[in-house]
Amino acid sequence: MSILNSPGKQQTQKELYEKTRSVIVKDSTTGCSQLAAEVAALIRERQAQGENVVLGLATGSTPVPFYKELIRLHQEEGLSFKNVITFNLDEYHGLAPDHRESYNRFMREQLFDHIDLPKENINIPDGTVSLDAVYESCLDYEKRIEEAGGIDLQILGIGRTGHIGFNEPGSSRDSRTRMITLDRITRRDAAADFLGEANVPRHAITMGVGTILAAKRLVLMAWGGNKAEIVQQAVEGKVTDRISASFLQEHSNATFLVDDAASSQLTRVHLPWLVGSVKWDGKMIKRAVTWLSHRFEKPVLRLVDGDYNESGAGEILTASGRAYDVNISVFDMVKHTITGWPGGKPGTDDSHRPERAEPASKRVLIFSPEPSDAIMSLGGTIHRLIEQGHQVKLVVQTSGGLRVPDLAARKFAAILQEMAGLLGDGGSSAGGEYASQVLKQLEDKGAFGDDTLDIKRLKALILRGEVRDAAQVCGLAADTVVFQDLPFYEKGRYRQFQMQQEDVDSTAALLQEYQPNQIYATGHLADPSALQTLCYRTIEQALEGFKDEAWVKDCRLWLYRGKESELNSYEIDMAVPMSPEQLDLKGEAIRKFQSISQEELDSSGRNQTTAKRYDQLGMAEYEAIESFERG
Ligand code: F6R
Repeated sequence: MSILNSPGKQQTQKELYEKTRSVIVKDSTTGCSQLAAEVAALIRERQAQGENVVLGLATGSTPVPFYKELIRLHQEEGLSFKNVITFNLDEYHGLAPDHRESYNRFMREQLFDHIDLPKENINIPDGTVSLDAVYESCLDYEKRIEEAGGIDLQILGIGRTGHIGFNEPGSSRDSRTRMITLDRITRRDAAADFLGEANVPRHAITMGVGTILAAKRLVLMAWGGNKAEIVQQAVEGKVTDRISASFLQEHSNATFLVDDAASSQLTRVHLPWLVGSVKWDGKMIKRAVTWLSHRFEKPVLRLVDGDYNESGAGEILTASGRAYDVNISVFDMVKHTITGWPGGKPGTDDSHRPERAEPASKRVLIFSPEPSDAIMSLGGTIHRLIEQGHQVKLVVQTSGGLRVPDLAARKFAAILQEMAGLLGDGGSSAGGEYASQVLKQLEDKGAFGDDTLDIKRLKALILRGEVRDAAQVCGLAADTVVFQDLPFYEKGRYRQFQMQQEDVDSTAALLQEYQPNQIYATGHLADPSALQTLCYRTIEQALEGFKDEAWVKDCRLWLYRGKESELNSYEIDMAVPMSPEQLDLKGEAIRKFQSISQEELDSSGRNQTTAKRYDQLGMAEYEAIESFERG
């Protein structure tokens, strides 16, 4: 089905709750190739008529695979962009076009330098304009769009605040191109790119909501589980200036193009029985009943027939009997996910336990994409696994050095320099010279320059020290922490990483050597260009290569969620409770990451929410719970 030329509103029963047309695709590659094919058709159609096409473009991670596909169409299928005029949505204020985080540079690197789009056809808001000239410059941008005949097709991403362009909460329906103050969440999301939140610009110039809605067609892309909640609110919620993407509901030809993970909170996916019939297997019943329990704020065992019937889940009773029986079976399902023995309880009947009892002492590999990920998500579980006699290795997949602010590097280099002085060699030793060199390089590169190899190494070392300390708090000896330093990370930068075969080979070598009985990993649901996703793919592909080996058949994969979301109650296959002391211990481990902002690291709240939800379902009341899905 054509994405661009189909009607703007949802049509079918399944899409009843959706107020903007949404197309769900398996993954971003599929979505981007469909969208790129539509754009190519539009360009060619206009070429045949001797006319231009005006495209509105976005930056960020989301459109990267789309731009890659446009480049491929140009290089391999001769698609020319000579008749295309482009307008970008936004630009950070205060960044020169060559700044490594400017959207101007991003567009050149990701698209413009690889196609035959005439330079004079490119329009991007000017981030360098002085404050007193901003107003005129914005008016001029609007005028240029109008003179080009208006935007034929506007590409959009969506921020976690629901912004389109940089139209943060509070942006009105009729807003036009202007300067805006960035929301705290938006700045936090950009922190890794800018080496710390403090470096993220406070202001940006953005097309307004009104400017965007004036485009003839709008396609908003969203990939990954992190976007699921905001996509649901924008598509199914009421139109509000708190979520500027919700204004797409008022456009007659707008489409949300989302992958499976980003669609997961839409009613047709999340609560499918509300919009059609479903196959009531155990998983679906668990999903519906836990939803009912949360909705009525009643423990599972207290739900009555009326609760099922009133909320569209009555079909379960027709198929499975009385509420009483269904309640008991779901209660048991949830209860059986809870275990204080994440590695299995030796010598017991394990038929209702998430993990098997044997072997009693398991070889466990815990993959952490960035140094802090695993500690934040399963610090308590790591502690239990070690206490319970398993052989645990923590594999830190990437150094995380790109996240470490210059300040931390400067501090360590200065200490090293002083130490060399104290040792009486006047700083002339190798260590002293190295420290002075790093300090000079930091000075030379300025706040936003690229890190030299020396700086990168020092930043990676700082995090190595921190993760070793954190792991030790969780009970892991220093020699059980493996630093994988995946090559894609060492060679790349955020949003632009490219996984290669060497990354898979490195993971395969590790797996082959250790032949684990249990693996903990994350990244299966994240944005496809996110570092966590790439790290996960290396594991997935490496395991695929061993699929016929006996140890793989006997190995269980447990998936944890990253720092931005938590598992819904129905998704949890293993819930590991934590006592207040264990939660404190985990907090202590997390605080070892001094070079990363503590706000970013705050995960204990999530563990407490999971525990509250379990309590609400009628389970025992725990302080906190770490949760996992079976892979
Ligand atoms: C970028 C833009 C923003 C992004 C949004 C999502 O030009 O206008 O609205 O589309 O912040 O960013 P990513 O794609 O990085 O998740």
